[in-house]
Amino acid sequence: MLTIRNIGELVVVPPGPVGGRAMREVGRIRAAAMLLDGDTIRWFGPERDFSAPPGCAEFDARGGCVLPGLVDCHTHTVFAGTREGEFVQRIEGRSYAEIARAGGGIRVTVDAVRRASREELVELARPRLDRMLRNGVTTVEIKSGYGLTIADELKMLEAIRRLAELQPIELAATYLAAHTVPREFDGRPDDYLDTVLADDFLARLRDERLAEFCDAFCEQTAFSVEQSRRAFLKAKEFGLRPKIHADQISQMGASRLAAETGAISADHLEKIDSEGIDALRGVACIPVLLPGCSFFLGVEQAPARTLIDAGLPVAVATDFNPGSSMIESLSLVMHIACTQMRMTPIEAVVAATANAAAAIGRQSKIGAIHVGSQADLVVLDVPTPERWLYEPGRNCVRAVFKKGSNMIVESETA
Ligand code: NIG
Ligand code: FE
Repeated sequence: MLTIRNIGELVVVPPGPVGGRAMREVGRIRAAAMLLDGDTIRWFGPERDFSAPPGCAEFDARGGCVLPGLVDCHTHTVFAGTREGEFVQRIEGRSYAEIARAGGGIRVTVDAVRRASREELVELARPRLDRMLRNGVTTVEIKSGYGLTIADELKMLEAIRRLAELQPIELAATYLAAHTVPREFDGRPDDYLDTVLADDFLARLRDERLAEFCDAFCEQTAFSVEQSRRAFLKAKEFGLRPKIHADQISQMGASRLAAETGAISADHLEKIDSEGIDALRGVACIPVLLPGCSFFLGVEQAPARTLIDAGLPVAVATDFNPGSSMIESLSLVMHIACTQMRMTPIEAVVAATANAAAAIGRQSKIGAIHVGSQADLVVLDVPTPERWLYEPGRNCVRAVFKKGSNMIVESETA
């Protein structure tokens, strides 16, 4: 047993999904304490009501804020190479889509990933995950999608599995072969999909538990609604739940496809329309917003306020990837959600915990301060979430508990 005492403010995020007004009506307990039993939250409440069991170990939060461990529910953390040339091209006026059509973009990273070994991909991603942990992130979703052959997609998914064994952040793997059409299939997207959706390969992903979700980039530069639907229907036969890159650059009806196919999340949504919003209102699909991506590309943000006002349980994630969001820090992205999308700090916290957990099907276990939830916690060196997100340039995380164990040695954060 472990007690956490002297908590300045405990942010009592309920299990997700939390939609609409409830996102900003989360309880907060000043001068709080918690009791952890192994990897589980056993009790929390005002410190004055608390008496520690005899002999119980103690962690002093020193007046800092405590909240659920952050969940980064949309990333492309496994990749090789960098694309700063495109960053400069965009500054000079070319768009992400123009660069992609000219053969740049995702295909550049595909070349680098194909050249890398599985071990090299692991070595490249590991320090990224270490930095995410220090930033308060305790669970991360990672997509394949830079291999685009059976062998290279498998290599990426095996790298994700190896990373899960090597470090404390819990990982959720998503199969994203439908990310773009590789060069060797230029003009033949359906033939490409036939290869990467082969029954025996999908059966292997299921049997070896190499992926939980199947994603598709539904966009003019990638796959049509019809092609994405086909990918999802096939993946579902093999137990992979759809997720979708939807309505990012153009409006093609991708959010409606998410609703129709029972996707667990619809991500991006910069160009969502009222029909898309209505479709998402009727289903258990989490709208995942990626404000770091629009910030990085210098384009308009998704309509977070409209989605929240429609009662939807909005999540926020980094979309960390070398092309459109070279941003590892989920807390920076939460700050961007506040200043650029006008989400309140407490809404951003709910979006990056309870709702992000729901976007990867883990809401009954993580993302909440709830008796019986897994003890994944962040301890800040500031008293409130408002003070934290007001300081995007400094890491305010003092301790990170994963399954009840503190993963950050204090001297390392000083
Ligand atoms: O989420 N939109 C598609 N996929 C990524 C970008 C990947 C890349 O450019 O390498 C995204 O923005
Ligand atoms: Fe993405």
